[in-house]
Amino acid sequence: MQETERARYWDGVADAKTFTHPLDTDVLARFASRDGRVLDCGCGYGRLLEQLHDDGWPRVVGVDFSIAMLARAHDHGASVARSTATALALRDASVDAVLAFAVVTCVPEDDTLDAIIAEWRRVLRPGGALMLSDCALGDDARNRARYECHAARGLPYGVFDLDEGMRFRHFDPTAFEQRLKGFDVTWRRALTVTTMNGHEQPAFQLVARRR
Ligand SMILES: C[S@@+](CC[C@H](N)C(=O)[O-])C[C@H]1O[C@@H](n2cnc3c(N)ncnc32)[C@H](O)[C@@H]1O
Repeated sequence: MQETERARYWDGVADAKTFTHPLDTDVLARFASRDGRVLDCGCGYGRLLEQLHDDGWPRVVGVDFSIAMLARAHDHGASVARSTATALALRDASVDAVLAFAVVTCVPEDDTLDAIIAEWRRVLRPGGALMLSDCALGDDARNRARYECHAARGLPYGVFDLDEGMRFRHFDPTAFEQRLKGFDVTWRRALTVTTMNGHEQPAFQLVARRR
């Protein structure tokens, strides 16, 4: 699926979905200064931008490729710009922290995922922090059935389609960490989240320092 088609999906659901991956700003503060420049990549309707603003982080910007998501974020007064995660309009080593909450679940293809990770590394200063939260593989019958049907067609285990006509991916957290080339994972935890469609799903959070 092309990026424009994906962005159109998110435009169509921008007013309907609620995202829930929790951001613990005390954890973020252990790895990034509150005065630092923070990028919320795939910011959606600005949920985390609002939280960071209220919690005393003045230099936060959000980017997303969905115009409708950004319009909803803008209504809350957030500082946002339209950009795809594969080509961020930011200078090399220009941010102190990147947040990516429930973004890699939207990227089922390995090559696009690796390009996005490389882009996060490019814009982070050395020692800067990537804080990421996303869905882990579920071991229940519903999840196993949908992963297996795609794996049988040669797609990575964890890829699945929603009836809404969109492809997503859940990850093995350990295997995911190995994708983070040029980063050192310094903090991690497992949790459970409620997905945008109301299902309970295992999840993982990590902070990785850019080498
Ligand atoms: C599940 S939502 C999470 C939003 C937000 N991070 C949060 O936790 O509230 C995923 C967001 O990532 C955006 N997104 C997905 N792929 C993207 C890409 N390649 N470039 C930019 N934005 C992307 C979508 O438009 C959507 O707003």
